[in-house]
Amino acid sequence: MKNKSLISINDYSPEDYYRILELAEAFEKNPNQNLLEKHVIASLFFEPSTRTRLSFESAISRLGGRIVGFSEASSTSVSKGESLADTIKTVSQYSDLIIMRHPIEGSARYASEVASVPIINAGDGANQHPTQCLLDLYSIKKTQGTLENLNIFLVGDLKYGRTVHSLLMAMSNFNPTFNFISPENLKMPEEYKHFLDKKGIKYYEHEEFTDIISEADIMYVTRVQKERFSDPMEYEKVKNAYVLKREMLINTKPNMKILHPLPRVNEIDTNVDEDPRAYYFQQALNGVYTRMAIMSLILGIK
Ligand code: CP
Repeated sequence: MKNKSLISINDYSPEDYYRILELAEAFEKNPNQNLLEKHVIASLFFEPSTRTRLSFESAISRLGGRIVGFSEASSTSVSKGESLADTIKTVSQYSDLIIMRHPIEGSARYASEVASVPIINAGDGANQHPTQCLLDLYSIKKTQGTLENLNIFLVGDLKYGRTVHSLLMAMSNFNPTFNFISPENLKMPEEYKHFLDKKGIKYYEHEEFTDIISEADIMYVTRVQKERFSDPMEYEKVKNAYVLKREMLINTKPNMKILHPLPRVNEIDTNVDEDPRAYYFQQALNGVYTRMAIMSLILGIK
């Protein structure tokens, strides 16, 4: 992993995932260490973010590193017409590692080809969000005790939700059964279903889930990604497609956990937050430990 960019979850092997999860566990036990003392890390967010940006910044600060960067491109020379390549080549001169979120699919891979330091993809359009995926794996392993043989429900916007695309690919290494629950026009794209077919992984598609909810080990709920719709009327039709309420959880497994990458709009009622199955805020905290582990391994810090 040393000096290797993290662009897609498939850039890393299942052995790499376990290595990251093990180190994240160590950071959870002892999060305040000066391991990044001599490092400058760039955080370039061309798209809005709360958790990804701030959990990276929290992780860097707790490890004694320095951060340079921006949270909106309008305050940079991108607004004067500077290209992504020139921005990345320049920031490579100022930092040891670049974390980048960008709205265009493939932009992170492109950035890694022009950068002279490793790139961590913090989300590129509807494509991939590998660090979210690794914190999701950490949350699943921590709550279920294993990544193997789990029944994973993916609920909501499976078309544009980059977190479900990364999670599907990663979990496909651990013999899951997937249940995809979405409106017809937000179904899991064919390419991901072909990917599962090739690996012989079982998946089922539904528009409702109340009659099968008792089978779930993990229910991974996603927001309808308003910003990816070209037609606002199409968003209006599906924005309230699923709202998880506490009374719907009566027949679920006691150790079932509800995950959500957040932000939430209305797809999980706030009355679910008090339920022991709600895990999304702890999941957000797990992002700090997981990102500490990812950066340390990429920077080759022992
Ligand atoms: N989960 C996630 O990516 O959240 P942000 O958009 O707030 O970073």
